[in-house]
Amino acid sequence: MTASDTPFSPNALKDRIVFITGGATGIGRGTVEVLGGLGAKIFIASRKQDVIEAAVSDLTALGIDAACAVCDVRDPDAVERAVAECVEWYGGLDILINNAAGNFPCPTAELSPNGWKTVIDIDLNGTFYCCRAAYPHLKASEHGGRVVSITTSLGRSGWPGAAHAGAAKAGILSLMRALAVEWAPDGILVNAVAPGPIAGTVGVDKLYIETGREKEMTSRVALGRFGTTADIGNAIAYLCSSAGNYVTGLEMVVDGGRQWTFTANS
Ligand code: HXC
Repeated sequence: MTASDTPFSPNALKDRIVFITGGATGIGRGTVEVLGGLGAKIFIASRKQDVIEAAVSDLTALGIDAACAVCDVRDPDAVERAVAECVEWYGGLDILINNAAGNFPCPTAELSPNGWKTVIDIDLNGTFYCCRAAYPHLKASEHGGRVVSITTSLGRSGWPGAAHAGAAKAGILSLMRALAVEWAPDGILVNAVAPGPIAGTVGVDKLYIETGREKEMTSRVALGRFGTTADIGNAIAYLCSSAGNYVTGLEMVVDGGRQWTFTANS
């Protein structure tokens, strides 16, 4: 996937500074390739040093301005430090993308308190810590700050077999809607993107490939295929570009129509 997979003008996000959690792999990686191809500068905050350094080197080879910091989003001090590093490196922060997530399939009755807490900490608490740390910089953005968080429509329906992740994502959506209102006077637009199953991601591998449910899940997508990371990157590009100037508090579902087949079949 390269920037050539985007329909946007090559300068649509020129010089916007993007802070993204979990941006080295999967949906995050596809997103930074799209946004970077539109002129954005990328700062990746994630847990594994070797993985983020490899991503920065790949992005640089594509002509994208990229930097990174090691950060576990469960640690609010580490988040503060990573945001400060981004601001020091690039001189600001215009776009926050809350993408880092943890998940595993587990019947809820068998889930330990720590298993529940781990996913809530990564997804929901991590998103709050990032929003909190980024806020003054988003407010100062000359372009108007943007926040995009990754959710799932399974957060709204409830997620049997991954209730911890569903509850966390529902919490993120609620947080996004509250911030959309609270931060509108600061010129900050706050939205969510809810991907369906996206090929080549840890989530789909863990939940559907390793559990032998790939065919079943593909058949439940109205468009009959898993999505690509560029499908999600382009939705985020829309929300972060001037095309999205009047959009805030939205959960944009990018799932090939999956949410409606679930309703029809249940
Ligand atoms: C039951 C499990 C488990 C499993 C972990 N736990 N995996 N319980 N079944 N498969 C429990 C552990 O036993 C432990 O509880 C607690 O969770 C913490 O586990 P750790 O391994 O110590 O945590 P950690 O090393 O911090 O790893 C976090 C993680 C891991 C979430 C468990 O999977 C991870 O790092 N994932 C990051 C990548 C990821 O998951 N990406 C997918 C996102 S997909 P006890 O009680 O034993 O101490 C997504 C949406 C997909 O969000 C959408 C598809 C449509």
